[in-house]
Amino acid sequence: MYNTNIMCGIIGYCGRETAAPVVFEGLRRVEYRGYDSAGIATFNNGTLLLCKDVGKLGEIESRHHLSKMLGNTAIGHTRWATHGGVTQANAHPHCDCTSTIAVVHNGIIDNYQELRKQLSTNGHRFTSETDTEVIPHLIEEEMKNKRSLEEAVLAIAPKLKGSYAFLAMSSRDTDKIVGTRKDSPLAIGLGNGAFFAASDVLACSGIANKLIPLADTEIAVLARDSAEFYDAAGRKLTKKPTNLKTQWLDTDKQSYDYFMLKEIMEQPEALEAAVRQDKKAFTEIAMDILRAGQVIVTACGTSRYAALVGRYLFSKVGRKFCDVVMASEFHYFADSVDRNTVVLAVSQSGETADVIEGVKRARDNKAMIVSIVNRPQSQLANMSDHVIYLNCGPEQCVAATKSFLSQLAVFYLLSFSMVNSFDKAVKDIKGMKSKVAKTIEWNNERLKRLSERLKYKHDFYYIARGINFAIASEGALKLKEVSYIHAEGMPAGELKHGTLALIEQGTPVAVICPNDYTYDETMSNAMEAKSRGAYIIALSDRKNQIFDFWVKIPKVSELLYPMITVIPLQLLAYHTAVSLGKDPDKPRNLAKSVTVK
Ligand code: F6R
Repeated sequence: MYNTNIMCGIIGYCGRETAAPVVFEGLRRVEYRGYDSAGIATFNNGTLLLCKDVGKLGEIESRHHLSKMLGNTAIGHTRWATHGGVTQANAHPHCDCTSTIAVVHNGIIDNYQELRKQLSTNGHRFTSETDTEVIPHLIEEEMKNKRSLEEAVLAIAPKLKGSYAFLAMSSRDTDKIVGTRKDSPLAIGLGNGAFFAASDVLACSGIANKLIPLADTEIAVLARDSAEFYDAAGRKLTKKPTNLKTQWLDTDKQSYDYFMLKEIMEQPEALEAAVRQDKKAFTEIAMDILRAGQVIVTACGTSRYAALVGRYLFSKVGRKFCDVVMASEFHYFADSVDRNTVVLAVSQSGETADVIEGVKRARDNKAMIVSIVNRPQSQLANMSDHVIYLNCGPEQCVAATKSFLSQLAVFYLLSFSMVNSFDKAVKDIKGMKSKVAKTIEWNNERLKRLSERLKYKHDFYYIARGINFAIASEGALKLKEVSYIHAEGMPAGELKHGTLALIEQGTPVAVICPNDYTYDETMSNAMEAKSRGAYIIALSDRKNQIFDFWVKIPKVSELLYPMITVIPLQLLAYHTAVSLGKDPDKPRNLAKSVTVK
């Protein structure tokens, strides 16, 4: 038996319109959460209709016409499997024995084997290998005792160990969806005469204009004309909706072939949006960081590389040292976190399980939590003392691009706020808008041609020094995840301590060498690689004869180079993926919100 529904996207719709097209559209928007299989369940004239299969949503649609299913209430699911069968039987929705209750689930039910055993002993028949399937059977047991769907959900939720967000429908009340969550996201959206529940606000964008957050263990009961909320003890709650920002309504690729390119191109505007911050709040957070006994930044993947640039800025500008700890390793250091610690958690989604886990431990130890997030209504934001939003709008490509640039801008603002220079930092970043645009304009077509030439290379290396070192790592990560070519990024000085042994005739080495205090030393390291046959792709505002391919960048002040040097590396990764025929928006084996530890 397998846990087969770890990350996944779920959505439910109750309203006057036919539900399946709305749910299908919502699934399309959150498909980046998983694309192994998908399914929808609706009620039409009291009968449960269920359609699910393996493959990407578009493929399933052309085989089964999911979006044409009838009925005004529907739930849907798109799945990302960690291990175990990608099969039709394991795809969601899952049903009870009588096929009158349907459930979609995101998370892991840790004690599913035990529950399944008990349910099987009581005569329940299972048709999948998933942990999820215990949920409809547990609901079935409760509903046999004349309980309503919401009463049944309230009764079974405490029996589930692990993390979950699930939505359930029953033929007993075909206009109703009941949803609940624990340690997995579930947002409730309100639209014109319609209610939504989804694991990501993106699923509701364009159709909902207000959001209601659902806290852990709370229950939402959505019907055609109403939404009611209860706590775990069944007490009714009053909730206030908040407006969904208009930038979250834009979920189209527009004229771009892929979201990745669209999001790269949106970066000049992302910088402008990132500096729309409250000066007073920012300065207070910066002062808290300065006063703290210790500061730990925790994040994963691309967000961690932004944190590494931030560490440099904190030290250089604010004279404040901080450590950056990979979120998956952070809880091993929890013993040294105390009330004099500020933990800065960086996460585009605000849902990354490793980050959430570490922050929980830090909170238990009374640390102050400051988070830097993009997605509204995230778990991370809800558990933080202070939240800084990136404001860059939806990022739909699995590979992070514009959110990274926004994170760099926020770190720049924070570090200058430590020396009471918030306004200067805002001005500097605004000035970068045109430089980023210029970098794209100068290099996009040339990098496309370069990617054609290099796309069959097996290994790429990326080197840099000082503040740009993390950009070397970020460039390598981008290439790996979208083109599946092996790549490594490292401080230029480290190359000769081992990796140089891998350089052969023609091995591409991207050298980030702006004309600053690192130029001469980085040039020496590039020369060491070139002498062993490396093909030098240099990102610089100063030409050098050792370059085989010069990526010209504009001159900017030393601390702002990362906002420029990352851009050509994103473009190189994008064009390499596309020229190899890969879909950069949905890289194999990956999903955008990594809600599993
Ligand atoms: C890389 C990428 C991932 C994420 C990482 C953290 O392009 O997207 O490495 O950066 O999974 O995600 P967040 O920032 O949502 O916590």
